[in-house]
Amino acid sequence: MNTSSLPRIAVLATGGTIAGQAGDASKTAGYKAGVVGVDKLLDAVPALASVASIHAEQVASIDSKDMSLALWSALAARVETLLKQDDIDGVVITHGTDTLEETAYFLHLTVKSEKPVVLTAAMRPSTALSADGPLNLLNAVTVAASKNAAGQGVLVAFNNQIHSARDVTKTSTYAVDAFRSPEVGVLGFVQDGRVEFQRSVTKPHTTASEFAIAEKWPSVEIVASYADASRVMVDALVAAGVKGIVVAGTGNGSMHANITQALSDAVKQGVSVVRASRVGSGHVMHNGAASDDALGTISAGTLNPYKARVLLLLALAANKKDLQRVFDTY
Ligand code: SIN
Repeated sequence: MNTSSLPRIAVLATGGTIAGQAGDASKTAGYKAGVVGVDKLLDAVPALASVASIHAEQVASIDSKDMSLALWSALAARVETLLKQDDIDGVVITHGTDTLEETAYFLHLTVKSEKPVVLTAAMRPSTALSADGPLNLLNAVTVAASKNAAGQGVLVAFNNQIHSARDVTKTSTYAVDAFRSPEVGVLGFVQDGRVEFQRSVTKPHTTASEFAIAEKWPSVEIVASYADASRVMVDALVAAGVKGIVVAGTGNGSMHANITQALSDAVKQGVSVVRASRVGSGHVMHNGAASDDALGTISAGTLNPYKARVLLLLALAANKKDLQRVFDTY
């Protein structure tokens, strides 16, 4: 095969279970994530040779529970640099499943390129019987190599499905079909080399996003509301000097009266507060006079608390004052 005519895809490895190693092939828990190098991951998928010409980089080797803003910033910068090169047609990022949705959404709003960026991962370590990583990697490269993936924002290829970074979330601790896009569903499918998109995202992203990597990030934390919740957590965060708080509220982002009072006090001290929901699907409606307008809080819409935190970080870093417009837009 003449490989010079194949799409040129950069594969950036960051660790995760896809690069995990267990002492025993029957083990799908109790392994170490992020130990197998990118070259070995690629060697496990000989079929890649007929899909793309691959440029590989080991960007990190972490369990994604330990993801940081510093690594997000470095990753976004590296992706953008690669995509500016004429000899790179798309980027695939291998990642842990645990914070994949946060990294994907961060890149969706900060990388300024129309070229495909596709994240993938695995629920089973690379050493497992029926490891899911190799096929997920092949499918991710196949999506990144597809002209149809251009301009769709950052994508997640997992278990034959293609999700938007905006909507995707991990919904199982063990199943190989762990990712869902609640309410809105997948963007499309990838199977046996065929990439099919059935819808596209309408919210702005990548080249249409007003956000960028910041020099300095504000402190933004998440608190939850639950039966008998006290104001201790909110007060501690305010005392620590946080600039933003996302609340994982009950139902439509409602909060225990103790937390409501604490957040109302926090807003008066200049902290930006966003109401999201712990429910896992649906949206948090702006409550107007009944709540948000009186308290000075922002409603997160369909963003889950973790993605709402990403957007609040970017908006505060960019010194945005019209936060409800930001959340209504993105
Ligand atoms: C991780 O997120 O790095 C570990 C878990 C996984 O990838 O499934």
